[in-house]
Amino acid sequence: MKILVTGGTGFIGSHTVVELQKTGHEVVIVDNLSNSSETVLDDICTISGTRPIFYKADIRDKEALRSVFSEHKIEAVIHFAGLKAVGESVQIPLEYYHNNITGTLILCDVMREAGCKTMVFSSSATVYGMNNTVPFKEDMPTSATNPYGRTKLMLEQILSDLTVSDPEWSVVLLRYFNPIGAHPSGLIGENPSGIPNNLFPYIARVAVGMLPCLSVFGNDYDTPDGTGVRDYIHVVDLALGHLKALDFAAAHKGVETVNLGTSRGTSVLELVRAFEKESGVKVNYKIAPRRAGDIASCYADTEKAEKLLGWKAKYGIEDMCRDGWRYMNK
Ligand code: NAD
Ligand code: UFG
Repeated sequence: MKILVTGGTGFIGSHTVVELQKTGHEVVIVDNLSNSSETVLDDICTISGTRPIFYKADIRDKEALRSVFSEHKIEAVIHFAGLKAVGESVQIPLEYYHNNITGTLILCDVMREAGCKTMVFSSSATVYGMNNTVPFKEDMPTSATNPYGRTKLMLEQILSDLTVSDPEWSVVLLRYFNPIGAHPSGLIGENPSGIPNNLFPYIARVAVGMLPCLSVFGNDYDTPDGTGVRDYIHVVDLALGHLKALDFAAAHKGVETVNLGTSRGTSVLELVRAFEKESGVKVNYKIAPRRAGDIASCYADTEKAEKLLGWKAKYGIEDMCRDGWRYMNK
């Protein structure tokens, strides 16, 4: 199939493009490069042997999207493009709503004009909010505590409404848990600018000496060692989940919401130890106060992904640390 990947030069997008190309799909990327670099295209080409077609464009630019759809017979869209930093979304909410919501509305409008009504969308486990008990299951009530989370919740609702209004639409809403690691080649991975907000890139930077010490946000949670527990998933597993979701969306109509996680919880200190073991480097850390808005535990119920999509994560924490470390060293 010919697939449009929005945000395809980003962290999860680039890994998904590689897997799409390996499976014989033709890929067209639209990315405004606000959080990625065009050099990723060379790395994708080195890994897969094919350079994806690339448009540097913003998804809010309707005319640019129209010309992409007129130049290519796009059969489905995997929609990653969006802003994703929770803290920043509190500081600049209008930018988040405009980028994520307006951008998706314009994308859907252009898709409809072109008669392309199949989409796989990047949602987030953040929509499970603060009031559910683990493991999180797709039919649990949802809520959000910050503008970023609200854009994901609203977009889930908007895309669901679209499938109700027009039975030709097919949408899979993928709720990612915590994607980490990198491609085993060491060529593509996550490279946040500035000081990382997320645990894994922070650990990696402490390990290489770019940052002095990790602050562990709280050791008094109701978890086995008191530190926060998350469902870390290898970004390659996550990418493979998109291929399964795409197959499903192409063969069905309507909307489905599916968790992409491993169903295994790992604490902050367990991740630190696993990273130390794989890298052979000591990671300095200190215990710090809890971070506002964090929950104790977050991990997925993955039964629906297994049954509906035939997908199950195969990599473990060791693989994620090893591949993330290899990327960091390159
Ligand atoms: P990323 O920032 O690496 O990739 C997103 C890409 O979209 C970037 O290359 C950026 O330049 C591009 N982009 C942003 N706004 C755009 C616009 N208006 N027009 C065109 N391109 C635009 O992020 P990622 O980690 O790969 O995340 C991909 C998607 O998955 C996002 O929607 C994110 O919210 C969601 N998600 C990510 C995580 C995570 O922890 N990484 C967890 C849950 C959900
Ligand atoms: N943590 C630390 N120190 C740090 C950073 C994080 O102790 O410097 C802890 C957090 O308190 C938490 C765990 O590490 O217990 C994971 O934190 P992350 O910031 O890496 O990830 P979150 O689970 O908070 O959130 C991430 C994304 C969200 C997304 C969510 C679910 O940032 O956008 O996963 O997919 F919604």
